[in-house]
Amino acid sequence: MNETRRDFMRKTVGASAAAAAGGTLTGMSAESYNRVKGANDRIRVAVAGVNARGNALAVNFAALPDCDVVHVIDVDSRASAKCVKNLEKAQSFKPSVFGDIRKSLESKEYDVLVVAMPDHWHAPATLMALQADKHVYLEKPCSHTPAEGELLVAAAKKYKKCVQMGNQRRSFPNIVRAMEEVRSGAIGRVYFGKGWYARNRAPIGVGKVTPPPDWLNWDLWQGPAPRKEFKDNLIHYNWHWFWHWGTGEALNNGTHMVDLVRWGLGVDYPVKVSSYGGRLVYNDDWETPDTQTISWEFENRSVMTWEGFSCYGRGQEGQSVGVILNGDKGSLHTGANGYTIFDLGGKEVRTVKTVSRVDATDSQNPSGKLDVLHIRNLFEGIREGKSLNADVESGHKSTLLVQLGNIAQRVGHTLNIDPATGHIINDPEAQKLWSRSYEPGWEMKI
Ligand SMILES: NC(=O)c1ccc[n+]([C@@H]2O[C@H](COP(=O)([O-])OP(=O)(O)OC[C@H]3O[C@@H](n4cnc5c(N)ncnc54)[C@H](O)[C@@H]3O)[C@@H](O)[C@H]2O)c1
Repeated sequence: MNETRRDFMRKTVGASAAAAAGGTLTGMSAESYNRVKGANDRIRVAVAGVNARGNALAVNFAALPDCDVVHVIDVDSRASAKCVKNLEKAQSFKPSVFGDIRKSLESKEYDVLVVAMPDHWHAPATLMALQADKHVYLEKPCSHTPAEGELLVAAAKKYKKCVQMGNQRRSFPNIVRAMEEVRSGAIGRVYFGKGWYARNRAPIGVGKVTPPPDWLNWDLWQGPAPRKEFKDNLIHYNWHWFWHWGTGEALNNGTHMVDLVRWGLGVDYPVKVSSYGGRLVYNDDWETPDTQTISWEFENRSVMTWEGFSCYGRGQEGQSVGVILNGDKGSLHTGANGYTIFDLGGKEVRTVKTVSRVDATDSQNPSGKLDVLHIRNLFEGIREGKSLNADVESGHKSTLLVQLGNIAQRVGHTLNIDPATGHIINDPEAQKLWSRSYEPGWEMKI
């Protein structure tokens, strides 16, 4: 144990002892004291990328009584300041702020890195964290390319660390129950699954090349991605719609539903993947599809589809995101933390209601308190070796399905896939998109 951590332990154990002996802890509320009580078992966390999702996650991590968020990392000084303010309300001390993730990772003050940076950073930051002896909570998609996903699966094994992907629905109690119903035959043999996402997003216009704002370290924001000039319509969030950094709506929101359909069908890798769509609604800089249908065929006589609508918010079946699984005895509808089973004639058989708030249109914190269950599962993995509900191997399989969909979309033809490995068969054009190039010096090496 390093010096800093030992000091921290001494301080907190001392504080517990003082309170146990009837002493008071100056400046500490009862809530703060309770949080310090189990200090020996506390898990310390750093959160990287705190403008939106990372800010929500930082607060959700801090909500756990045995967790401290000790570092906040961002290249946007305004985002860090906002997150620190929110954390000061959620825990009894102020976290340290870092602009450079590499500096933060040198510290032994924490056990877990939360990666909520843009997609091109996901795999490189996770690998850096594993090499710095940290566990990782990794937002979806787990990688920018299939090659990065495979590398992360190997790295998690090599460095013997937990990597939980932010497919939080894998820990929602009623989704788990729905999948148990499917496994136990409630809808018979499942042969078809469909997921969707709908959101009415505004156009992003045509960006102007400008100097980056003074609150942003543009060089470090780009990090592993080859350098480009800064444009005024990229940051924050709109980078999602550029292939250089983002992965489109399919991996932004499709990953969640495709993961549930894959779970319901009980499949890993497909034999065929096709995709249709494009930037159909507006003429602007947005490169990825705003309207997209991806289809996958599997060896076990099953088919999956995902429909993404970025410029049409009405959704389907009364839900902006959702999943339907068809079996030969009935169907199951889900998406949030609840589900309904129908018979083959469409008559409702059973409904299990959503008990906690899930709002898929909330792009920062769609599932509020339910996230805590997913975080708790990571902590059990770290402390007790319990299996993770969304380990990086499972996360990679779901991410890969959607990545293959995007590759099919970009090359404009159906891909043939080896169902044993998920690899593209005999297609040099598609194979070029299996991996990416890196800014020199930022290549990923296990
Ligand atoms: N699981 C979920 O429900 C869910 C919900 C929303 C977003 N997400 C994921 O979270 C990620 C972030 O999404 P967002 O909407 O918050 O994006 P965003 O653009 O609003 O925020 C990204 C943040 O990362 C920061 N960043 C960039 N480079 C950095 C670096 N080198 N070091 C530290 N910080 C850096 C940016 O400055 C920004 O503050 C995405 O990958 C997204 O897919 C997941």
